[in-house]
Amino acid sequence: MRLILLGPPGAGKGTQAQRIVEKHGIPQLSTGDMLRAAVAAETDVGKLAKAVMDAGNLVSDEIVNAIVSERLDQPDCAAGFILDGFPRTLVQADATESMLKSKDMDLSVVIELRVDDKELVRRVSGRYSCAQCGTVYHDTDKKPSEEGVCDKCGSTHFKRRPDDNAETMTKRLEVYYKETSPLIGYYYAKGRLKVVDGMAEMDNVTSDIEAILAAL
Ligand code: AP5
Ligand code: ZN
Repeated sequence: MRLILLGPPGAGKGTQAQRIVEKHGIPQLSTGDMLRAAVAAETDVGKLAKAVMDAGNLVSDEIVNAIVSERLDQPDCAAGFILDGFPRTLVQADATESMLKSKDMDLSVVIELRVDDKELVRRVSGRYSCAQCGTVYHDTDKKPSEEGVCDKCGSTHFKRRPDDNAETMTKRLEVYYKETSPLIGYYYAKGRLKVVDGMAEMDNVTSDIEAILAAL
């Protein structure tokens, strides 16, 4: 199973990807996570990406395409993968087509999570994650069952992303509508697109996604 999760910042791509990983055992390839790891490790890519990400802009297609292509060659991608936050421009979408073709892989489906802007801002402003395992939480919608302790790994350390503030979020949404939303038409035209109501409760979003995956 090879799928793309498409949607604006805060739509729930990461949240749902984590659930698909747990249920189906295929890896989540989040370009945002990969870039944040590069920033933390202060690699050359990380140094280039930091200011771009903090401002809510997109890192260059060239850098991101190279990261993904390399990641797809890892053995754990052989049985499938979830692309989360990639592709994000038409150039990246075309690159994905050629990458998969050259690796003899077919795309199973593109799932678009549709959510209103106001809700996106609310979600992103309340988001935090476990500093150890990356599990995503929200101030009101998804707290750990024991206050201050990660459900998954027991860590007591949490962090917030520097780009999760109202000003940067406005820019990220602007970039999404200009650069990424054309991908909806792109995949619709290819007959690959499935739309899920991302405004629904997390568990209902998961069920809708599972129904799509079951029908593949
Ligand atoms: P990236 O890390 O990809 O961020 P994003 O696309 O902005 O998406 P988010 O991670 O913000 O949201 P999400 O959809 O995963 O939502 P989540 O599940 O966390 O990219 C960051 C930056 O990296 C970019 O701005 C760019 O600079 C760079 N970059 C990355 N990829 C790139 C690429 N391909 N090309 C160029 N540059 C790239 O959920 C959000 C919150 O809502 C959470 O708190 C969650 O608990 C809550 N929530 C989730 N679902 C629900 C629900 N159904 N109901 C209520 N709350 C919910
Ligand atoms: Zn954790």
